[in-house]
Amino acid sequence: MNLKNSRVYVIGAGSVGSALAVALRRCGVRIEGVFSRRAISADLLKKKVRAKVSGTFAEISFGEKFSDTESGIVIIAVPDDAVTDVARQIALLHRDYRSFVFFHTSGTLASTALEPLRKRGAAVGSFHPLQTFLKKNGETASFKGIWIAVEGDRRAREVGKFLAKKIGARLFSVDSQLKKFYHIAAVFASNYFVTLLSAVETLGAQAKLPKRKIIEIFEPLIIQTLNNVKQYGAASALTGPIKRGDIRTIQKHLEALSGKKNRHILTLYAALGRETLLLAKQLKIRRISSFGGKK
Ligand SMILES: NC(=O)c1ccc[n+]([C@@H]2O[C@H](COP(=O)([O-])OP(=O)(O)OC[C@H]3O[C@@H](n4cnc5c(N)ncnc54)[C@H](OP(=O)(O)O)[C@@H]3O)[C@@H](O)[C@H]2O)c1
Repeated sequence: MNLKNSRVYVIGAGSVGSALAVALRRCGVRIEGVFSRRAISADLLKKKVRAKVSGTFAEISFGEKFSDTESGIVIIAVPDDAVTDVARQIALLHRDYRSFVFFHTSGTLASTALEPLRKRGAAVGSFHPLQTFLKKNGETASFKGIWIAVEGDRRAREVGKFLAKKIGARLFSVDSQLKKFYHIAAVFASNYFVTLLSAVETLGAQAKLPKRKIIEIFEPLIIQTLNNVKQYGAASALTGPIKRGDIRTIQKHLEALSGKKNRHILTLYAALGRETLLLAKQLKIRRISSFGGKK
């Protein structure tokens, strides 16, 4: 497959589709077409990346028949639940997709979600950038140094490597059957981390810390925690009342959270507390073993 002669299309002009299209364009990859559920999203992105064509899903077209040396690369960046429907719709457009490679960008779905296209001869893969993208800052999103999980057909993995290299990202492969566990890890690393930071904001406000500075005040603690986990692993990076066995401190926390307004935070505190207890126990067992005690 001659990647230099490929026509690149983006389907779904949302957070990821826009960020990828802009980054590819910036790195010299010409975007041939942009299609999205609403014409307005597709047109906006078309202008940004100076694509040739744009339109709604009903208007998807990959142009005239490709020459023997040309190929098509299509990135489908729509919500997970819509991926297979969109693939099915595209599959109905042509009989022969042998010169095409299709990707979706879902973290949890495997390349099998694009089966309707594979059945028409296309190579299919998943191309999941392990990063968080917001539409509001998507255009400035950089892929430099971020990791992209790729799985799927051999030809798709090759093209994935080519695209990742173009935008300065790093590639890793993930087993299609186990991909969902990888994505749950990503949910913890980003989405649930945001939920934890929201609890920090709520409790910081209750402690009457300056509202706009709460996260800034906690930032050095957050960064150091991350660095410690990176360097020593999660169990060894643990500090705090559970690790020290400061039961009275924990009791005080539970009492403070027992009011109606903090009930949801109490549930979160208790669930994370149980998990943290397991982590602290792990560390204790490891210490005992390293002193030649319990094996
Ligand atoms: N956001 C992230 O941080 C992130 C990171 C890595 C991977 N991903 C994955 O990338 C994919 C896209 O996520 P996203 O965050 O970019 O989503 P998004 O911002 O909501 O954009 C989704 C795009 O798909 C279109 N769309 C929305 N609902 C649809 C439906 N029911 N059927 C067909 N098309 C629909 C929208 O079109 P219109 O705008 O034209 O209405 C929009 O262009 C998902 O598989 C997600 O798991 C997301």
